[in-house]
Amino acid sequence: MRKNSTSLTSARPLIVDFIGGSLNHRLNFGGGIKQNLAKAVGIKSGIRPNIIDATAGLGRDSFILASMGSHITLIERSQIMHDLLADGMKKASREGGKLSEIIARMTLIHGDAIEILPQTSTDVIYIDPMHPPRQKSALVKTEMRQIRAIVGEDLDQLQLIKTALGANCRRVALKWPAKSPLPDGLPECSHQLMGKSVRFDIFMNANLDET
Ligand SMILES: C[S@@+](CC[C@H](N)C(=O)[O-])C[C@H]1O[C@@H](n2cnc3c(N)ncnc32)[C@H](O)[C@@H]1O
Repeated sequence: MRKNSTSLTSARPLIVDFIGGSLNHRLNFGGGIKQNLAKAVGIKSGIRPNIIDATAGLGRDSFILASMGSHITLIERSQIMHDLLADGMKKASREGGKLSEIIARMTLIHGDAIEILPQTSTDVIYIDPMHPPRQKSALVKTEMRQIRAIVGEDLDQLQLIKTALGANCRRVALKWPAKSPLPDGLPECSHQLMGKSVRFDIFMNANLDET
């Protein structure tokens, strides 16, 4: 079960901005299909898998993946986060051009992925749950603190990961703090992509051919 709190920790309101700021920089200089996020979901030359992002949040990872040409279904269970994201997507779509093309590849659903995933079929399920705060709290970005204040901890993340592993998909890609072990009760991942602060654990579904 989740622990919820409605108090925000910063005076600056949390918004979803696909138009400017750091996300725009990441779009232009983030490394394209060579970045670990893209490799984690199996994006490579000529291959653009369909993806379910089971933990949409601010939609940043989904936006980057959609910018590369994948179609993404984003699932977010927090009404507040869902509405922030819907607002950001609407504004970006109104910009036209490349931005609206990216947003057109993103479909946002309000709901709990633990309930929705068993009814779906896709190439890849991507999961980036709320992680425990790092010991040096100054390192925790303001935005992440604000999200935590809205959604609390994802205390059912093990259940979400297990649900994804049992779903009808070719691979599950899990974003996780680089140095933290996975919770007990999960199978070994097929391979890992290690970054400075986060890693991606990839679980291939042995019952389906991987493209
Ligand atoms: C760390 S944030 C994701 C950040 C996101 N990857 C991004 O790039 O902005 C985790 C989000 O997943 C959502 N979440 C966690 N468990 C979920 C579930 N079972 N179903 C749907 N949303 C979930 C939380 O409410 C939170 O907004």
